[in-house]
Amino acid sequence: MKAVVYHDIGDIRLEDVPEPKIEDSNDAVVRITGSAICGTDLHMVRGTMPGMEPGTILGHEGVGIVEDKGRNVRNFDVGDRVVIGSTIGCGYCSYCRAGYFSQCDNANPNGPQAGTAFFGGPKATGSFHGLQAEMARVPFANVGMVKIADSVTDEQALMLSDIFPTGYFGADLAHIHPGSTVSVFGCGPVGQFAIISSLLMGAGRVLAVDCIDSRLQKARENGAETINFEEEDVVEAIQELTGGIGTDRAIDAVGIDAIHPHSAPAVALSPQEIEEFDLELQWAAPELLSHKDQAQRWQPGDAPSQALQWAVQSVAKRGSIAVIGVYPESMRFFPLGKAMMKNLTIRSGNCNHRKYIPTLMQIVSAGSIKPERVITQQQPIVSAIDAYRMFAEKKAGWMKIELRP
Ligand SMILES: NC(=O)c1ccc[n+]([C@@H]2O[C@H](COP(=O)([O-])OP(=O)(O)OC[C@H]3O[C@@H](n4cnc5c(N)ncnc54)[C@H](O)[C@@H]3O)[C@@H](O)[C@H]2O)c1
Ligand SMILES: [Zn+2]
Ligand SMILES: [Zn+2]
Repeated sequence: MKAVVYHDIGDIRLEDVPEPKIEDSNDAVVRITGSAICGTDLHMVRGTMPGMEPGTILGHEGVGIVEDKGRNVRNFDVGDRVVIGSTIGCGYCSYCRAGYFSQCDNANPNGPQAGTAFFGGPKATGSFHGLQAEMARVPFANVGMVKIADSVTDEQALMLSDIFPTGYFGADLAHIHPGSTVSVFGCGPVGQFAIISSLLMGAGRVLAVDCIDSRLQKARENGAETINFEEEDVVEAIQELTGGIGTDRAIDAVGIDAIHPHSAPAVALSPQEIEEFDLELQWAAPELLSHKDQAQRWQPGDAPSQALQWAVQSVAKRGSIAVIGVYPESMRFFPLGKAMMKNLTIRSGNCNHRKYIPTLMQIVSAGSIKPERVITQQQPIVSAIDAYRMFAEKKAGWMKIELRP
């Protein structure tokens, strides 16, 4: 079968690989009818999320049809249409039972303290083969898969595999109340769903920050007021738009590949600030620097803590920040002193997908949200490497790419 395989930083290939088989009584094998490329995949290809094992199939977003199942997958039948949650949880440990599926004690083969297990990720997450393939093995399939309602299309359900739940998780972590003013940093696919979810939870206003016009346009379509950080000072703009108070909540949907402003003189950085960001990169993403030429072709960021700094500076005193943008374990740069002096609450993490998918399936089924509007391209899996490139370069209009077999 065809699959997108990680070889090295900057080196991913479309290859023929053996089809997966049932290995455990909780497994299912799913014929993938749609998968997608995510900002998280880009961190791995760029080397800013280190530790990928060569030979790992990439991808953690997928929908498909159950092809085979182990004897303990008792809630599905061969032929069922399913969405696969990105993170893997056993469903029986105390964490899963409390809804913290991404902190499952049993799913990660590196042990209970190893943290989140997910498809197509680095060694520390279990080196599970991913979903950008024609077929996939789903461990703990009885827990991680959710049946797709008849009224929900594959495209809609694909958005429930990772990015809609993650945006919703971000809004949940941020503790949004009816009327809250929320800032969302990053208007990629995850940021779009953070905007949609904040409004779903009753936010009065959402201020969305990015530098890509087509993504800011999409954010406006989804109901946000937009700020382009290449054109104006983000913190000043947020102050101006909030009567000098700041936002109640901030959601970081950017992560380790954040960039700092480059163009407008009004927002130029001092040489010292640029030097500090260079130092952050050396500490947070050493593999990026040791593979500079390969990584540069995939447009890595240049300012790991930029979105976090803006969030801390622009949120109101006693406000909350939710960090859903992914940072590697090596990331040590957070403006804690400033956050402390403002009595901020910081919450972060990997989405507990399985906790949210059934509820979001109902919302989509009812027709009140049209998640497929975030998808901008549908490409055959044989064009996956080109599609990755367009997504990494943030080509106008290339925001969320569905890969089809
Ligand atoms: N926590 C989770 O469970 C989870 C799940 C899925 C994705 N993620 C993470 O969410 C993040 C976003 O994913 P995506 O698919 O939308 O990625 P993406 O790369 O498409 O989007 C990131 C966006 O941030 C913008 N950006 C860069 N620097 C910025 C800055 N300083 N301020 C504001 N915006 C800035 C970019 O222009 C881009 O539009 C990634 O870090 C991804 O790994 C986390
Ligand atoms: Zn994803
Ligand atoms: Zn568990």
